[in-house]
Amino acid sequence: MNTARIRYAVESDLPLILSWRNHPSIKKYMYTQHDITMQEHKEWFERCLSQPEDIHLLMFLVNEKSMGFINFSHDKFDVVNWGFYISPDAPKGTGYALGLSAIEFGFKTLKFRKICGQVLSFNERSINFHKKLGFSQEGIFKEQFVNEKNYYDVYHFGLLKQIWAQRNDGN
Ligand SMILES: CC(C)(COP(=O)(O)OP(=O)(O)OC[C@H]1O[C@@H](n2cnc3c(N)ncnc32)[C@H](O)[C@@H]1OP(=O)(O)O)[C@@H](O)C(=O)NCCC(=O)NCCS
Repeated sequence: MNTARIRYAVESDLPLILSWRNHPSIKKYMYTQHDITMQEHKEWFERCLSQPEDIHLLMFLVNEKSMGFINFSHDKFDVVNWGFYISPDAPKGTGYALGLSAIEFGFKTLKFRKICGQVLSFNERSINFHKKLGFSQEGIFKEQFVNEKNYYDVYHFGLLKQIWAQRNDGN
């Protein structure tokens, strides 16, 4: 049986996280599209560590092997935005397992009230993924993203803690 867990990211995770983040299959779905250097990556990590109340950088482990990364950033009140990606060679189902673990961690351990996700309109996998996890589509930001002179919509998803709790009670 596979065991999955979440832990905080540490400095020794940085090369692996960067290799995922710069992978073409992940980079194309991110707001920032250039190849991130290790220097930039380290500076970003240091900035995040200096805001421990507001930013949570997390690793998703399956059988103690790092398989994904999650970023929760506080917006206002106890509402957070999340970002995430899995190892590009992860087997099917890894993303869903990451989603379940990260949401549980967010609502139960970190006491968030609402988790929000913003997804580029051409990221069909992530749109379906959010819906499968029980997120509601709350809005569409029209042409909010530009890439190589093409404009794309950004889908806004939200999941309230009580909706998540009800859904799990029903299972
Ligand atoms: C989004 C991501 C985490 C999903 O992980 P995954 O392991 O591919 O997803 P799973 O196999 O667990 O599938 C979960 C659900 O996602 C959706 N999904 C997964 N692959 C899909 C595909 N190729 N096409 C459409 N929907 C897909 C489906 O709803 C699927 O449920 P189903 O299998 O019952 O149909 C992963 O693809 C990823 O890291 N993508 C790159 C980074 C990224 O886009 N991050 C999010 C930015 S908003």
